[in-house]
Amino acid sequence: MELYIVKDNIEGAQKGYEVIKAALESNTLKTIGLATGSTPLTLYDRIVNSDLDFSNVTSVNLDEYVGIPGTHPQSYRYFMNENLFNAKPFKQSFVPDGMNADEAAVSKEYEAIIEANPLDIQVLGIGSNGHIGFNEPGSSFDSITRKVALTKETIEANSRFFETIDEVPKYAYSMGIKDILGAKKILLFAYGASKADAIQRLFEGEVTEALPASALKNHKNVIVIVDEAAASKLSK
Ligand code: GLP
Repeated sequence: MELYIVKDNIEGAQKGYEVIKAALESNTLKTIGLATGSTPLTLYDRIVNSDLDFSNVTSVNLDEYVGIPGTHPQSYRYFMNENLFNAKPFKQSFVPDGMNADEAAVSKEYEAIIEANPLDIQVLGIGSNGHIGFNEPGSSFDSITRKVALTKETIEANSRFFETIDEVPKYAYSMGIKDILGAKKILLFAYGASKADAIQRLFEGEVTEALPASALKNHKNVIVIVDEAAASKLSK
C-alpha cells in the first residue's frame, strides 16, 4: 500500500482527483467503484467543479441500505445523485436496489454488473471499526454482494444522518471484499481522529477478517490517503 499523509480533506481530494484524472486521460477508466459517507464528499466536490467528462464511464456503488427507497434523502442512491451524478452525468450508474427484498436476486444482478464492468478504480472510505463498504468485521475476504447486518457501532455512527437511531436501517446490501479486491486500483481515504485506530491497525496490525480493510494488503495497487488526524496513531 502506498500511503500519502495530507493536511486535510481538501488536499486529500485533490490527490484522489489527480489519480482519477490521469486514468481518464489515459483512457484506462471505463468503470469506477464509488463510496458514500462523509469522506468522499470533498473528492466528489472536486470532480463536480472540474471539466472532467464521465459520460463514457460506468459507476458502480459499493452499497445501499435495505428498506429505504432511492428517493429517501438518506439512501445512498439519493446521496450519489445529489453529490455527484446530477452535476456530473455518467454513462450508467449502478447502486444496489435497497427496496428489492430478494437478497439472492440483488446479489446475482450485482455480481453480473461487476463482471460486465470490471472495476478500474475503487474509491473507499473506512469505518471506525475498519469496515469497507458495509463489510463489517468478520466478513469473509471471499465475500461477494450480499445482505449484511450492520454492527451497533456502525448504526450509532450513521445515526447522525437520521432523526432518531431507530430510523437507521439495520441491514444493507454490500459488495463483498472479493469484489473490492477485484478492482485494478483502490483509493482509500480516511480523515479525522475517529479513523486513527483503524488506520493504525491497517498499517501496523495483521491481515485479519476482524479488520476488513486489512484485506487490502493482499492487493498490489492500493493508494491510501489520510489526513494528519487519521495518521496520528501511526508509529512511524
Ligand atoms: C459507511 C459506509 C462506508 C463508509 C464508512 C465511513 O457506513 N457504508 O462506505 O466508508 O461508513 O463513513 P464516513 O466517511 O462518513 O466516515
